[in-house]
Amino acid sequence: MERVFSGMRPTGRLHLGNYFGALENWVRLQDSYECIYCIVDWHALSTDYEDPRQLSENVRSMLVDWLAAGIDPERSVVFVQSDVLEHAELHLLLSMIIPLSWVERIPTYKEQLKEIQGRELATYGFLGYPVLQTADIALYGAHKVPVGEDQLPHIEFAREVVRRFNYLYGDVLVEPHPILNKTRRLPGTDGRKMSKSYDNYIALSDPDEQVLERVKSMITDPARIRKHDPGHPHVCNVFSFHQVFNEGATKELTELCTEGRIGCVECKMNLYGLIRAFMEPMRERRAELERDVKLIDDILASGSRRAKAYARETIEKVRSAIGIKR
Ligand code: TRP
Ligand code: SF4
Repeated sequence: MERVFSGMRPTGRLHLGNYFGALENWVRLQDSYECIYCIVDWHALSTDYEDPRQLSENVRSMLVDWLAAGIDPERSVVFVQSDVLEHAELHLLLSMIIPLSWVERIPTYKEQLKEIQGRELATYGFLGYPVLQTADIALYGAHKVPVGEDQLPHIEFAREVVRRFNYLYGDVLVEPHPILNKTRRLPGTDGRKMSKSYDNYIALSDPDEQVLERVKSMITDPARIRKHDPGHPHVCNVFSFHQVFNEGATKELTELCTEGRIGCVECKMNLYGLIRAFMEPMRERRAELERDVKLIDDILASGSRRAKAYARETIEKVRSAIGIKR
């Protein structure tokens, strides 16, 4: 079976946008690949080093969301980056062979330096972000890396680094290929991109009342004043949500809405029901996980043990290829 590796920065509780943007694919890939999923806390530190207090709590809450969403720690290796020190060793060794111009020209680097305000990101660690990401992937000999479009330059970079390593020291590392996440784009409740910083999200762990509140607050077609006014679903954010949660019924809803045969309040209540039904199985799994506090520790311990076994193997090969094996 081909091997898949992917990582996610521990941002704490995940929202529906994270689910449809990445996690849904990760869950599905477990059926056809040997999957290794990593909580990349060192990557988070590269931008949040000034305030790392939340980090370990965020690692745990994100893991609970992964498991609730269907990541299966029996089938897949699930672990935390900082538990496997080999990531640091490979990062260091790779940094020796990477021309500075390669890291400096990565578009995400330049953009984020400009975009992320209020933090000093002109650091050595942040420049090395894609080097660490390359180490993550190469350490597990991953063939495939599921990512969003924004990450494609990093995977391309990883491929170049692997080729350079193999050119210098022999065929040791595996060249990875991206798998573009088949994403279902779910906007935030205000129509912008769903994001914690916009406070327009529905968390996977939100209670019903919160979900209802968010759904009620959504803006619908502003041209509809009375219930029987014809609506324009394509300018309505509630409709975008229906397209994700009930793909099969969008034609019917389009007709009902444009012919003024459904009111927006009813339409929102239907959506609320769909989101609840979607979240219900996750909620049950979450409750199980919360009942047994030791479970999370056990999963992390066994994940890092399994990850370490792969990582050791690669590091031994890398050391002897370079010729620094003791
Ligand atoms: N940089 C990725 C992101 O921000 C996270 C990440 C770290 C990653 N290491 C990885 C993704 C390895 C894929 C493979 O989304
Ligand atoms: Fe939007 Fe539904 Fe109202 Fe149509 S009926 S405008 S789809 S909320």
